[in-house]
Amino acid sequence: MKTIYVGLLGLGTVGSGVVKIIEDHQDKLMHLIGCPVKIKKVLVQNIHKHRQVDIDPSVLTTNVSEVIEDPDIDVIIEVMGGIEHTKNYLLEALSRKKHVVTANKDLMAVYGTQLLKTATENGCDLFYEASVAGGIPIIRSLVDGLASDRITKMMGIVNGTTNFILTKMSKFGSPYEEVLKEAQRLGYAEADPTSDVEGLDAARKMAILARLGFSMEVDLDDVEVKGITDITEEDINYSKRLGYTMKLIGIADRTGDKVEVSVQPTLLPDSHPLASVHDEFNAVYVYGEAVGETMFYGPGAGSLPTATAVVSDLVGVLKNMRLGVNGRSAVSPQFEKQMKSPEE
Ligand code: NDP
Ligand code: HSE
Repeated sequence: MKTIYVGLLGLGTVGSGVVKIIEDHQDKLMHLIGCPVKIKKVLVQNIHKHRQVDIDPSVLTTNVSEVIEDPDIDVIIEVMGGIEHTKNYLLEALSRKKHVVTANKDLMAVYGTQLLKTATENGCDLFYEASVAGGIPIIRSLVDGLASDRITKMMGIVNGTTNFILTKMSKFGSPYEEVLKEAQRLGYAEADPTSDVEGLDAARKMAILARLGFSMEVDLDDVEVKGITDITEEDINYSKRLGYTMKLIGIADRTGDKVEVSVQPTLLPDSHPLASVHDEFNAVYVYGEAVGETMFYGPGAGSLPTATAVVSDLVGVLKNMRLGVNGRSAVSPQFEKQMKSPEE
């Protein structure tokens, strides 16, 4: 029985969860895929660092070529973060016909179209469920479950760190800096949490959702963004007294050919369903012409929830490999048209 070998880029919060789920759920994976799955090489920055999971030290490397050029490795899982160098690693992996799973919304928001095109050209899968709303299968739902509908609007809480901060400030009066540190300790925040608290992480996720939901290119520069750094304890207390809850809300609207995406702190009546989305949890409303209103809810950050989405993408890739097919509508014909160079 052939073993499927996986290369992992990154062994931090998400990477450790991926290792754990692949090990702990090997029987389930075996049942779904019909062969064992093994992590063969893991790229890290510091080989000597203490790890959150038991891992054979001999699989760790600081040399990316040992992972993406290994002929035994069929799938690369990217959970290291970063944009420019990471894009180059994944383009190289795809050109070597390796399928890719990534949790990297920064990368997918900026270079998603180019990476998906390269994946399609090389007959590879590129799945990125974990890049938006952690453990909630929102991308799969847009690409598959709601594929037949015309999506008109998406709205929700898509950043766990800021929701955690606002929840703790509101419930316990905890100081902003203290709660941010707690979110970092729990692994919710980005390596540089500026993108969380200034709204850019949410903006990137909303851009990814808008691109998928509306099948239209969305330029990140056109997304209006305001984070939570100016929100004070007084603002939160005052809004509470008036029966409102402060949340960082992302909205993506489509009217005809026009898409508008924005992220900003918003006061919601306490009775609004999004007002009770607490801690690192996320929730996204999707409005479709036919389906009406649907709501997706669950943990938006953290090791195991995010790793669940990553490993489920891996299962998708491996099922496709078995069937000799690619994609979950990775690139729609409309996207293909948009991706063609102007002279074509
Ligand atoms: P961490 O900072 O916890 O882990 C990053 C890992 O990547 C570390 O193991 C680090 O090595 C390694 N790494 C980083 N840069 C390099 C490099 N240049 N070369 C080699 N190795 C490198 O990040 P997370 O696990 O939290 O996040 C990973 C990705 O997942 C990011 O794109 C993030 O946005 C995304 N994500 C995170 C979620 C979360 O809840 N944390 C949820 C959804 C998505 P070393 O350990 O040696 O330092
Ligand atoms: N830093 C991100 C968040 C991780 O807090 O939502 C999940 O994408």
